[in-house]
Amino acid sequence: MEHKLKGSSVRYIGIGSGKGGVGKTIISINAGEILAEQGYRVLIFDGDLGLSNIHLMYGIAPLKDLSDLIRGLTTIKELPVKVKERLFFISGGSGFHELADLPKQRLVSIIHALHEFAEENYDYVIVDTPPGLHRTTITLLSAVDVPIIVTTPEPTAIADAYALIKVLNKEEGVNSFHLLINKADNEGEALAVYESVKLLAAKYTEASVNYLGFLKFRKNLIRNVINQNPVDRGFKNELKKAIQKIEPSKRETESFWSKILKKIGI
Ligand SMILES: Nc1ncnc2c1ncn2[C@@H]1O[C@H](COP(=O)(O)OP(=O)(O)OP(=O)(O)O)[C@@H](O)[C@H]1O
Ligand SMILES: [Mg+2]
Repeated sequence: MEHKLKGSSVRYIGIGSGKGGVGKTIISINAGEILAEQGYRVLIFDGDLGLSNIHLMYGIAPLKDLSDLIRGLTTIKELPVKVKERLFFISGGSGFHELADLPKQRLVSIIHALHEFAEENYDYVIVDTPPGLHRTTITLLSAVDVPIIVTTPEPTAIADAYALIKVLNKEEGVNSFHLLINKADNEGEALAVYESVKLLAAKYTEASVNYLGFLKFRKNLIRNVINQNPVDRGFKNELKKAIQKIEPSKRETESFWSKILKKIGI
C-alpha cells in the first residue's frame, strides 16, 4: 500500500498541559460543543491512556475504543459515540500505545482508514491528551494543526507548561503554540502568566507563544461535573471568545495521521 496520505481539510486541535488537573478535558468538551453548535461536525478523540474522563463527565460508556479496532474486534464506524448533534467522541483506550507494535502493513492500513474516516465525517477533531511529558502526549501534540497548552496561574503548572513547550520545540520542531489560562481570577492575572511563559519560551526556545485567552475559576463547574453536565454558560462564553482567535484553515495541510505515521517510524 502507498504510504503517503492525501492532504487533510480536517482541523486537528490538540489540548495539552504539563501539570494534570488544569482543565484539559472540560475544555475539550466545551470546545467540542461550541464548534458543533456553530454547525461543524466535531470529533473529540480521547488520547488519555485508559484513564479517560470524558465519558465519565458525560456519564456515557463507550462500548469500543481504539484498541478494539487495532485488535480487529470492531470497525471504525462503530467507534464514535454520539454526544450531541454533530458531536462525537472516540476513546483511545490503550490503543494509541499499541499502534507502535503493529506490523508495518497493518499499521499503515489502520492509519489510512482513520485518516479517510475523519476526512469524510468531521470538520474538527479535538485531541485531549494525558498531562506531562508522556511519549503519547508529545506525539499527539506534535502532529495536530493547532496545539493549545493549558495552564492555571499556579507556579508549578506554569513551570510544567513551559517544560512541555520546550520539549515539543526542541525534540519535535513545533514552533507555534496557543496558551490558554484556566482557573484565573481575572485577566490581569492571566496576562501575567502569559508574559512569564512567553518570556521563558523566547529566551530558551525557538517557539512563539500566542495568548488565546483566559477562563475564570467557577465553582459551578465542579458541581455541574458532579451532575454529569460538564458545561457552564459563563465558562463556555469565555472559551468561545478564545477559540474564535484560532484561524480557520483555508487550505489543505499535511494530515495529522501522516505525521503520526512518520513519528511512529514508517
Ligand atoms: N475554570 C474552572 N473553574 C473551576 N473548576 C474547574 C475549572 N476548570 C476545570 N475545573 C475542575 O478541575 C478539575 C480538573 O478538570 P479536568 O479533568 O478537565 O482537568 P484535566 O487537565 O483534563 O485533568 P487530567 O490532567 O487529570 O486529565 C475538574 O474537577 C473540573 O471540574
Ligand atoms: Mg483530562
